[in-house]
Amino acid sequence: MSGWWDDAVVYEVYPRSFADADGDGVGDLRGIIERMPYLASLGVDGLWLTPFQRSPQVDQGYDISDYCDVDPLFGTLADFDELLASAHENGLRILVDIVPNHTSTDNPLYEAALAAGPGSPERDMFVFRPGRGADQSEPPNNWISVFGGPAWHRAAPDSATDTEWYLHLFSPGQPDWNWENPAVAAYFERVIRFWFDRGVDGIRVDVAHGLFKAEGLPDSPTVPTVIDGLRSNPLAMDQDAVHEVYRHWRRVADSYSPGRLLVGEVNLEPIRSARYTRPDELHQTFAFAFAKLDWDAATWVSVGGHLEEVRQSTGSAPSWALENHDIVRTATRFGGGALGRRRARAALVALLGLPGAVYVYQGQELGLPEVDVPVAERADPMWQHGGVSRDGARIPLPWVSSATGTHGFSPSGAGRPWLPVPEGWGRYSIQVQEETPGSDLRLFREATALRAALAADGAFGSGDGVRWGVDGDSRLIAERGRGVRIVVAMGEAAVPLPPGEVLLSSEPLVDGMLPASAAAWVR
Ligand code: NOJ
Repeated sequence: MSGWWDDAVVYEVYPRSFADADGDGVGDLRGIIERMPYLASLGVDGLWLTPFQRSPQVDQGYDISDYCDVDPLFGTLADFDELLASAHENGLRILVDIVPNHTSTDNPLYEAALAAGPGSPERDMFVFRPGRGADQSEPPNNWISVFGGPAWHRAAPDSATDTEWYLHLFSPGQPDWNWENPAVAAYFERVIRFWFDRGVDGIRVDVAHGLFKAEGLPDSPTVPTVIDGLRSNPLAMDQDAVHEVYRHWRRVADSYSPGRLLVGEVNLEPIRSARYTRPDELHQTFAFAFAKLDWDAATWVSVGGHLEEVRQSTGSAPSWALENHDIVRTATRFGGGALGRRRARAALVALLGLPGAVYVYQGQELGLPEVDVPVAERADPMWQHGGVSRDGARIPLPWVSSATGTHGFSPSGAGRPWLPVPEGWGRYSIQVQEETPGSDLRLFREATALRAALAADGAFGSGDGVRWGVDGDSRLIAERGRGVRIVVAMGEAAVPLPPGEVLLSSEPLVDGMLPASAAAWVR
């Protein structure tokens, strides 16, 4: 079923780092409400809000203890309703994040499971198993958590009689649900209906390829040494039974009017991930094969070409993204400094020229770089358990160019934000970029407006195919249907443009040529 989402631009809001209205150093829902005019000015179709539900914030909200309430850190349900109404008044759809693979150790159901003890129906909501070894002091299998360290913890480390362990594919604060138990499916049906009934336009499904684990929880033949999502342990993900969950959720989503969107975080090879967007399952999954690319024409072409083959053979179109709150910012990934920023801006223009939905992460429209957060300030549990920190992509947004430490993220007089905003970040601020002709922010608005206009007059169609190619080793051309070409100069030299009308370019042309590290749309 097609819908508003087919060629939508969705802007990911990471509430902790968007805008802090109450001055506690952490962003909140009122901050988002206050900045709605900015969000509306971006020309995007919707906002994906990462978790703001009740949570002890062990994994910055991806450890949810009550799926149907707002954490006081972020506000109240009334604030959420106001946010939703304000977004809708401004023509913006709202997606909320649902985390069905795991919960929080603070979830009352998990607390009840601990109290009820081994063999109880309460424990059967989660994945509890006896340990191995004579005194059961070894974990039930050899699985490693995505964040590093064993994927199991003792349920009651001080008890002599309760020798069970619980499974947590992420941090120990995030016990996995037991999806073999129909009560878990019923619980989540209530959760998604709760948000749909409130009027949200869709949900983003966290670790959507998780949920079910291989029967019997056998040892993994390879003990992973690298942290690569769940990819390193096929026994802990992508089990066939998961598809029935999405078929059911799809029926629920379609039963609303208008129908609600389901977009999944499915970090798998494109051909496996396409199985999640069969016509009766999720509408979209992020194109992870593309999301982590470096600045290299050959890999863009081979990955883009492969995604197109998968689209043609399965009908599952990629939803494009280059950044999110888990990935190193493109300005840094593409080389850092002024060059990396120029490439990041070109990449964003290229992405916005492609057919299909585009997901943009807050700050990407400003060209923000990754920050090397001082070790003592790092808050990411992945840093604590696995030595990899995602904090550098989660720095509070700089709103104004002030001399103070928060650059308008918090109201004046507030204390330190939860992650430090680097000195000098005023130059990236929204205020400065609003005032600067040719800034990344202004270019982003130009691109979204043009994308919408081209879609309205039929020059961009969401079902368009893309033919990816590269000339020499650096002129990348993604030729989409209806005669529009996206050209990116990925090498060190300017490149000629194909004949036609230049609709948009990320840098001014020089003698009719597209300068190095720039992108253009040509019709
Ligand atoms: C994916 C989320 O994007 C990430 O931030 C989180 O740590 C894991 N899922 C676990 O929920």
